[in-house]
Amino acid sequence: MNIQNVKGTHDVILKEAQAYERIESVMKAIAESYCFKEFRVPVIENSALFLRSVGESSDIVRKEMYTFLDKGGRSLTLRPEFTAGIIRSFVNNKLYATKDLPVKAYYVGPVFRYERPQLGRYRQFNQFGIETIGTTSVYHDVEAILLGYTILTALGLENVKVKINTLGDALSRQNYKNALKEYFSNHIDDMCVDCKQRYELNPLRILDCKVKEDQDIVKNAPTMSNYLSDDAKKRFDDLCALLEQVGVDYEIDDTLVRGLDYYSQTVFEYHYTSKKGINYGAVGAGGHYDGLVKEMDGPQLEGVGLSFGVERVFSVLNDDELLADVDDGCDVFVMPMGEDANEIGFYLLTTLRQYGFTSEIDVSGSKLSSMLKKANRLSSKYAIILGEEEINTRILTIKDLFKQEQYKINVDNLIDFLDSRLNNAEDEHEHCSCNDEKEHHCCGHHDETQCCGHESQKHNHGCCGHNHDEEHHCCNKDSNKGE
Ligand code: HAM
Repeated sequence: MNIQNVKGTHDVILKEAQAYERIESVMKAIAESYCFKEFRVPVIENSALFLRSVGESSDIVRKEMYTFLDKGGRSLTLRPEFTAGIIRSFVNNKLYATKDLPVKAYYVGPVFRYERPQLGRYRQFNQFGIETIGTTSVYHDVEAILLGYTILTALGLENVKVKINTLGDALSRQNYKNALKEYFSNHIDDMCVDCKQRYELNPLRILDCKVKEDQDIVKNAPTMSNYLSDDAKKRFDDLCALLEQVGVDYEIDDTLVRGLDYYSQTVFEYHYTSKKGINYGAVGAGGHYDGLVKEMDGPQLEGVGLSFGVERVFSVLNDDELLADVDDGCDVFVMPMGEDANEIGFYLLTTLRQYGFTSEIDVSGSKLSSMLKKANRLSSKYAIILGEEEINTRILTIKDLFKQEQYKINVDNLIDFLDSRLNNAEDEHEHCSCNDEKEHHCCGHHDETQCCGHESQKHNHGCCGHNHDEEHHCCNKDSNKGE
């Protein structure tokens, strides 16, 4: 029976998994440089958590949660987002009692939403995000927006569009909701079923409606900016000025309200259309919240956060070919020639790995040519051929698979050789113009001293064990004659 993966899920494997690892490690490193600390919270939570935080009027709670009863009859939900779980953890662990507010958390992991699968939209996807909990300061909103912007720039994206808006304080929002109710009261009978519900639960949600006919009505709805209190307006002006100061290129979008109920004041989204012209939707989004901690029975503390959709970030980077170098390949591919060489080959492999070289072996007893093909498929940099002669003489045959050059190296000098080639090669030759004629074919170093400090008088190179004045004892080659 051929069992397929669940609709809306996808396997992240091989190079794609390496790309996710790259993306997430850039995200983590930047978050850590902003002094965020990692939080790992459960994937399953009590359903009430999301009802109370994400909100009854949100699409997530209304139709997208994976909710089930466990064997004890408890209603549990696979997290549809992280913020609620992070705030629950903050309250449960009494982190509000610390002297050092705000608490700054970052997180990464899978989230689940029962959405219609389509481009950039999965039912299981990964989010990376941050939450700064215990602050009202606009500086922390700026820090969050800047952090997201810095991450996308560090990953190589140029011209990221940062959309920002303010939902104002509670009073501003109430006034705005009243104005929306009044406006939509004349249209709601002609709008979709979802909008009819939104009208009752939270008219702000109508602004997010994706139905074409409804969007035409939404276009003429009142905008938030006319309902902001003076304080909210000043806070937003301060935010804009600070974003300019730190070099975040933003645009104000007064239709941006976000689909979760917990936001107040600042909201923002990161948009990017890949060079192929594909728009996957917002690659990341976030905002300020003022009632979440209290909602979970903690003190009245505010916070701000943002989450990236890792799949969407991956898709734009992949489209723009910014992940091409993600696979480092393999440093060394060991090729024992025949059963008898496998044991020594395996020992050699283990040693190479202990020294930190990415290494692989082929113990299949295949022909040299097919092993070489396999080594190339793995993007191996060097191949070590280990036949009877190599074992008897302890002189290994090493092939540089990129340059297509072959060397003979005494096994005792192998690690130094690889180290100089793979770890220091660039530095050593950085300032010189290596001359091929003089270059040792075994180690790539030449007789002149100015480039890498290796000189012919130094009997025995650290890199290859070659003595320039005498015949090379490892490969029986004279340095003047080259190979
Ligand atoms: P969100 O906008 O619901 O916000 O999700 C954040 C990001 O997750 C989106 O910008 C998008 O990149 C990605 N995303 C959302 N749905 C899907 C999907 N079905 N498939 C793939 N990617 C998706 C939040 O989750 C908030 N918790 C953000 C936040 C943190 N606000 C404050 N703190």
